[in-house]
Amino acid sequence: MATETPAQDVYAPAPGVVAQANIKSYAEVAQQAEHDLAGFWAERAEEFVWYKKWDKVLDDSNPPFYKWFVGGKTNVVANCLDIHQTTWRRNKLALIWEGEDGDLRTFSYHALNREVCRFANVLRSMGVQKGDRVTIYMGRVPELPIAMLACAKVGAVHSVVYGGFSVDALASRIEDSESHVAITCDGGYMNGKIVELKKIMDEALKRCATVEQVIVVKRSGQPVTMESGRDYWYHDLMNLPVARANNGGYKCSTEEMDAEDPLYLLYTSGTTGKPKAILHTHGGYMVGIATTLKWVFDIKEDDRWWCAADPGWVTGHSYIVYGPLLLGATSFMYEGAPTYPYPNRWWSMIEKYGINILYAAPTAIRGLMRFGEAWPNRHDLSSLRLLGSVGEPINPEAWRWYYRVIGKERAPIMDTWWQTETGMFMITPLPVTPLKPGSATKPFPGVEADVLSEEGKPVAEGEEGYLVLKKPWPAMLRTIYKDPERYVQQYWRKFPGAYFTGDSARKDRDGYFWIIGRVDDVIKVSGYRLGTAEIESALVSHPAVAEAAAIGLPHEVRGNAIHAYVLLRTGHEPSEQLNDELRQHVAHEIGPIARPEKINFVNGLPKTRSGKIMRRVLRARALGLPEGDLTTLED
Ligand code: WTA
Repeated sequence: MATETPAQDVYAPAPGVVAQANIKSYAEVAQQAEHDLAGFWAERAEEFVWYKKWDKVLDDSNPPFYKWFVGGKTNVVANCLDIHQTTWRRNKLALIWEGEDGDLRTFSYHALNREVCRFANVLRSMGVQKGDRVTIYMGRVPELPIAMLACAKVGAVHSVVYGGFSVDALASRIEDSESHVAITCDGGYMNGKIVELKKIMDEALKRCATVEQVIVVKRSGQPVTMESGRDYWYHDLMNLPVARANNGGYKCSTEEMDAEDPLYLLYTSGTTGKPKAILHTHGGYMVGIATTLKWVFDIKEDDRWWCAADPGWVTGHSYIVYGPLLLGATSFMYEGAPTYPYPNRWWSMIEKYGINILYAAPTAIRGLMRFGEAWPNRHDLSSLRLLGSVGEPINPEAWRWYYRVIGKERAPIMDTWWQTETGMFMITPLPVTPLKPGSATKPFPGVEADVLSEEGKPVAEGEEGYLVLKKPWPAMLRTIYKDPERYVQQYWRKFPGAYFTGDSARKDRDGYFWIIGRVDDVIKVSGYRLGTAEIESALVSHPAVAEAAAIGLPHEVRGNAIHAYVLLRTGHEPSEQLNDELRQHVAHEIGPIARPEKINFVNGLPKTRSGKIMRRVLRARALGLPEGDLTTLED
């Protein structure tokens, strides 16, 4: 395993980028933050509107239940929208949106605020109050950020479920959040096809008793069933008198929130079959994401920023919706697939809209790289100043292609390591950081990361170990919704006093971090996070399956691909047809991203004497690697 990058493979920052960087010296700010963490973050928080200033920056009296900006009153929307209404920014574009079919919609800060106010009034009129959970299950349309912002404005807690998830995944998330209101679309466009969101919602709601009202945004126009008394069209509601304030204008008051009040829940996969809801707050989250976006991607007033993630994942929450608006930036959002109708779709939009910063996942880069350089080379990409990567380690080959073919060797790549739980970038370069392809470089100022052995001791330079975070940070998750014990257990028990990330990593002699990957039962497929237990439970819900195990194996484009091992019930025989049926079954239960690449029918699974499936043995066997310690193996 190479631990050192040859000197010629270190990419010094381009002088032009350094000259205008928001932060000129990493060392300087990192030292300031190390010396006075609370003071460092307080200085950042000063840049926002607080209805009431905080009494204390960080309350660490009851770890790991840290609190930030204690006593402070604000609302993330006051800073995303309200403050821009009284400055020149009300005329600035907040959002440029292109549909897969070529539709174009733009929103100035004024227009976006107007839509959010209208919809917030609608939500209030439906009885949505501070603290209520609202499930949002939509395609990538502007009404998705509008719905999120409207929830936050009235103090409701949104729970966005990724539009690629299917019935089972959606239903379990609605059930856990106990939402009364759900927001969806008739259908969404993806790769030239329609995803039948409303139909999936209808099926999910058969299992969820709490939902009383469903709001449906019309996007695809195909017929859907509207249940009278429960389902309402968004456009009808938006035109009702209730959408207006008393004086007739589209105004709506912003709910005053405590800094520590919940802003949203976001379900993510962990080690059990039941997805956990990560809880983020108004105050600290806002300060953390705006600071990281401003410093890492060097956002300038006239920039056009494109985060190509899905708003349904944390990347979209922090860096499509809230982060850019907090900075008063112009954000671009695209509805569809990167290769629709041709593999130059992304590059043509960069040219068309003059995008300055592109933030994407390695899997997308690898996918587009497959089609060759001719596609990007047909377009003028000279507007690009910075590039970014997120979601999984970027392999050096893809890094170099991205750097050379897309960035024309001018645009540095910000490889940002972070998680749903961290809310904000944690290990990441700044534009002034010398880069090594494949390394996320150094912790963001104020973040303390380390690599530990099983015994909790820092490992030697270049050695692999567990990645931990040793200090609290403002955008950190506060708990797992309804399950504080699981929060403690999952993240804070393995290494007392430190947050365990679930990743393994190593640190080189320059203090650069190299993320290796998950060491728990989480598989990253195309950057999407899935739990082995979720896939296994989908498989065993099929009548032919007695037992199942899922593992991730390396895949050229997707990073990892799911391979499942299935033990059939008596009376069922392995066949091609059953193989296809099971793969389809998982896609139907969880969503197409969870469809196993391959299913292997087996006569038994390697288990410990206590009955736990030893997935690492399956992995080692599949890869032809040493199987390691087998003393706990039952058979
Ligand atoms: C992985 C996504 C290497 C990692 C924002 C982490 C990365 C998990 C990187 C969180 C990166 C994310 N380099 N690995 N730059 N960014 N990861 O919650 O395994 O969907 O633990 O958040 O993605 O995934 P999540």
